[in-house]
Amino acid sequence: MRSHYCGDVNESLVDQEVQLCGWVHRRRDHGGVIFVDLRDREGLVQVVFDPDRHEMFAAAERIRSEYVLRVVGKVRLRPEGTVNSDMATGQIEVLGLELEVLSQAETPPFQLDDDRVSEEHRLRYRYMDLRRPEMFQRLKIRSNITRVLRDFLDNQGFLDVETPILTKATPEGARDYLVPSRTHQGSFFALPQSPQLFKQLLMVAGVDRYYQIVRCFRDEDLRADRQPEFTQLDIETSFMDEDQIMALTEEMLREVFAKVLEVALPNPFPRMPYAEAISRFGSDKPDLRIPLELIDIDDVLKDVEFKVFSGPASDPKGRVAALRLPKGAELSRKEIDDYTKYVGIYGARGLAYIKCNDVAAGREGLQSPILKFLPDEAIATIMQRTGAEDGDLVFFGADKANIVNESLGALRVKLGHDRGLVKRGWKPLWVVDFPMFEWDEKDDRYTALHHPFTAPSSDISPETLQENAATALSRAYDCVLNGTEVGGGSIRIYREAMQTAVFRTLGISDEEAQDKFGFLLDALKHGCPPHGGLAFGLDRLVMLMTGASSIREVMAFPKTQSASCLLTNAPSQVDDKQLRELGIRQRAQQASK
Ligand code: AMO
Ligand code: AMP
Repeated sequence: MRSHYCGDVNESLVDQEVQLCGWVHRRRDHGGVIFVDLRDREGLVQVVFDPDRHEMFAAAERIRSEYVLRVVGKVRLRPEGTVNSDMATGQIEVLGLELEVLSQAETPPFQLDDDRVSEEHRLRYRYMDLRRPEMFQRLKIRSNITRVLRDFLDNQGFLDVETPILTKATPEGARDYLVPSRTHQGSFFALPQSPQLFKQLLMVAGVDRYYQIVRCFRDEDLRADRQPEFTQLDIETSFMDEDQIMALTEEMLREVFAKVLEVALPNPFPRMPYAEAISRFGSDKPDLRIPLELIDIDDVLKDVEFKVFSGPASDPKGRVAALRLPKGAELSRKEIDDYTKYVGIYGARGLAYIKCNDVAAGREGLQSPILKFLPDEAIATIMQRTGAEDGDLVFFGADKANIVNESLGALRVKLGHDRGLVKRGWKPLWVVDFPMFEWDEKDDRYTALHHPFTAPSSDISPETLQENAATALSRAYDCVLNGTEVGGGSIRIYREAMQTAVFRTLGISDEEAQDKFGFLLDALKHGCPPHGGLAFGLDRLVMLMTGASSIREVMAFPKTQSASCLLTNAPSQVDDKQLRELGIRQRAQQASK
C-alpha cells in the first residue's frame, strides 16, 4: 500500500512516484487547488490536488481532518516562495495522482496541536492524543531506551526471566492489588509490588544474573511520578558486592544516556551517605542541581529566649536549620507569606526569616520579626555559618527533625525553581548507608526503610541486630537523578538466621513469618548464594530523559490520579454471576453505591 512514510519524502525523490498512507492533518482550499498536510508517525508532507483531475478533486473536496487516505502522487520541488523551512519536508510537495479514502473520521474531540486540552480529555481519547508528534516521540525514545538497556544486560550475560503476576503479597510498603481466586474461594492472589522474592529465588536457583522489564502494582497515593501500575527494570546478581553492582548499573545508565541522548554522565557517580543527604538537603533524594543547603544551628539556639527555636534546638528529636537564599532580600512580604503557606503543607508551623541588608552592620543591618529574641552572638554565628551576604535572606525551620527536613527540603527545591537557580545538566547520585529500620510512631514498631530482605551492614550479626535496631545501617543504595529516585536496591540477606532476626525486629512473629515467607526461609536453607540487585523505575527514567512533566506522559495508557482508566472506564462493576463464581458477595454499603 505504501512506498514511503510521509515524513520521509524528500528532495531525493523529486520526479518519482510515491504511495503514501496517513491521516489528514489539515486541509486547505486555495482558490481551486486543495492542499492536504498528510501525517503519519514520521511526519507531515504536503499533497496538492489539482482541479483538472475532476473525480479525484471532488473526492479531495469531501475529505476532513483525521480521515485516513492512501495517495499516489509525484514528488516535485515546491514553487519558489512556497518553501516551508519549518517543515522537514518543506522543500517538496506531492502532486496527487490517485486518492483513496481508507477511513472517514468524525470531528476530532480536540485539535492535535492545541496544547490547552485537559489531561482528562486527552486520556479519554488517548488514541488521538498519541497521534501528536511529541507523544509518538516519547514512545519512540522509550522503546530506544529499553532496547539499549536490554542490549547492555544481554551483553553482560544477564538472563531475562519472567516471574508471576498472580502471586502472594510481597511487602514493598504499599497496599496490594488483590485478585480473588475462583478455584480457592475465599483466597486471593496479590499482584506483585515487585518481583523481589522471585528474583532472590532465581539466585538460589543458580541463574546468577537476572533481569526483567516488568510491571509492578502498588495501590498507593498517586503523584506525578507514581502510577498504580508501573514498570521496573529489575536486576539481581549473585556473588557481587554493592560496589560492583553500583559500578555495573551506572555503566548501564551512562551507556543509555550516551546512546539515546548523546549525554555523558559522570564516571563514577558521586556517593553520599543518607545522613549527609538529610542534613544538607533535608531529603534522601537531593536535587544536586540546586545550590542551596540546610545549615544546622541547633547548638547556637539551645538557650535563646525564643521558645520556637530553643525548644527544638534542645530536643534530641528536634532540629533547627537555616537556609540561605542568595538575593532573597528582594522577596516581597506576599512571597514570603506564600512560602510560609507552602512549608505548612509539610507540617511546618511557621517560617522565620532574616533579611540581610548590610551584614557588616550587624543587628542594625538586618531585618526580621525574630531579631529581638536573639542575642548578638547567635546572630553573628548564624550569619557566619550561612555565609550570608548583603541582599540575601535566611529562612529558618524549627520543629521535629523530620518536619524541618521535609519542609525546608521541599522549600529548597521550590526556591531553586522559582528563583531560576536550577543548574542545567544531569546530576546523578548514589545515596548509601541507609538506616535499616525506621521507628513508626503510629504503630509503635520498627519498619524496614527499604524492604525486609535487605542485609544490614557487616558489623551486625543476628544476635546483635535487635539491640542495635535504632542505629543499624543497611547495605542498600538508591540511585537519584536530578532529585528523582530512579532506582533502588541492596545486598540481600542470604542466611536464614539473619532473615529471622530481621522479621523479629520488625515485630513479625515466627508463625507469621512462616506463613508469609516460609518459602523464602526454606530456600535460604538450600544453598543460597550471597546476592544483591536493584530496580530502576523505567517510567521515571524515561520521564527524565524526555523532559516530560509526569510519568503519565511517557506511558501509552496511564491511569488518572485517582487510579482509573478514562479510556476503558476501568475499574468497573462486574455482574453478579461473576461474583457468585468467585464466592464474593458485596457488602450492602458498597452495593448501594
Ligand atoms: P523500590 O520500591 O525502590 O524497590 O522500587 C524501585 C524503583 O521503582 C520506581 N517506583 C515507581 N515508579 C512509578 N510509580 C510507582 N508507584 C513507583 N514505585 C516505585 C522508583 C523506584 O526507585 N524490589 C525493590 C528493588 C530491589 O531491592 O531490587 C523495589 O521494588 O524509581
Ligand atoms: P510567632 O512567634 O508565632 O509570631 O513567630 C515569629 C516568626 O517565627 C514568624 O516569622 C513565624 O513564621 C516563625 N515561626 C514560628 N514557628 C516556627 C517554626 N516552627 N519554625 C520556623 N519558624 C517559625
